[in-house]
Amino acid sequence: MSIRILFFSVSGNTRAFVKKLQAHGASQHLLTPANPLIELKEINDQSHFEAEMSPFVAFVPTYLDGGNGVDNGTNEIMTNTLGEYIEYQDNRRKCIGVVGSGNKNFNWQYCLTAKQYAEKFDCPFLADYELRGTQADVETIYGILQDLVKK
Ligand SMILES: Cc1cc2nc3c(=O)[nH]c(=O)nc-3n(C[C@H](O)[C@H](O)[C@H](O)COP(=O)(O)O)c2cc1C
Repeated sequence: MSIRILFFSVSGNTRAFVKKLQAHGASQHLLTPANPLIELKEINDQSHFEAEMSPFVAFVPTYLDGGNGVDNGTNEIMTNTLGEYIEYQDNRRKCIGVVGSGNKNFNWQYCLTAKQYAEKFDCPFLADYELRGTQADVETIYGILQDLVKK
């Protein structure tokens, strides 16, 4: 069994994190074959949109422009193609959860895009991590994904 991840990365942090997650999955799978492998699919602005045939978890960083959270809203920038991809045909039905990343310096906006995707696509917000994440984040999030596919 494997877990599919669709991710978007602008400056490379999310890509680095999901690759660490994939390496961790491979080592866990070697120890116990029932532990799932991780399959990665990067979505970027050149991606050819296609109908997804099997469930996936979306990993998205947050890039917002403007908005003060009080009397005006925030505007998603950079990552919009991933949201459009999930909206494409029936892909939203295959999205079984969202993992967010960001920078805690952004306070209440921390990981907001992932939270907004979870609400919009009606799936759980599974976890968050900062920037490239730590080894502890890798292990925690692998465990969360494992539980998700066991259900
Ligand atoms: C212009 C800009 C805006 C950002 N806005 C937010 C934000 O609103 N909330 C947040 O948590 N992180 C914010 N970040 C931090 C990024 O989400 C963080 O650096 C993330 O790890 C980038 O992932 P990537 O390298 O895969 O693109 C912002 C970064 C930049 C450069």
